[in-house]
Amino acid sequence: MIEATVAVPVLAIDGPGGAGKGTVSRLLAAALGWHYLDSGALYRILALAATRHGVGLEDEAGVAALAPGLDIRFGTGDDDSVWLDGEEVSAQIRHESAGTMASVVAALPAVRQALLLRQRAFRQAPGLVADGRDMGTVVFTDARQKVFLTASAQERADRRYKQLIAKGIDVNIGDLLADINARDARDSNRAIAPLRPAEDATVIDTTRLSIPEVVAQILALVTENGAGVS
Ligand code: C5P
Repeated sequence: MIEATVAVPVLAIDGPGGAGKGTVSRLLAAALGWHYLDSGALYRILALAATRHGVGLEDEAGVAALAPGLDIRFGTGDDDSVWLDGEEVSAQIRHESAGTMASVVAALPAVRQALLLRQRAFRQAPGLVADGRDMGTVVFTDARQKVFLTASAQERADRRYKQLIAKGIDVNIGDLLADINARDARDSNRAIAPLRPAEDATVIDTTRLSIPEVVAQILALVTENGAGVS
């Protein structure tokens, strides 16, 4: 018997922190009516869980062992809340220090392996917009469309500053730029799944583009590629 299996389409959006991936990916998911995976939140939650369980962030086996058992829930649509074991942790995981802790656990191969299946489970009909660092290079190598969003470090620091201040989180712009540079270096130089565009990704520099312009460019790519046509 020949089975016609049509894979659920994935739109992979990768790039460094602050390039606009989160906002753009949510808008794309809403426009396409697809699910959304915030893979960075999984690494942030795992790092938070490790500190809560007294597991050191460099303890590869210890952190990886926590991953399968965590009860992680995401709000849907406009609700961007994140829950860990029944407690809302949205503000805690969005803090800059949570991002830095996430990039420490994210450099551990066993941790990345432990989160792989959890990420792939988000691939559900009618489609998935997957936001992260290695969506196109590792997690969804067969994604129908791959985009790598980037922007200058200064621009990303400015954007992150405005986002965090708007959320009532107090930060210093100089510290933010230093954190962004350190995190970029750790993410780009790690041995496993380093941050880089997939060979078949379209690279978009968002430094001088508005959010609607970026969304429109990507929607045009998706439609050209047939991923948005049902
Ligand atoms: O995207 P976000 O800033 O939430 O990601 C936090 C950290 O998690 C990143 O700096 C990176 O180290 C790690 N990460 C990753 N792979 C992903 C998503 C995030 O290594 N797919």
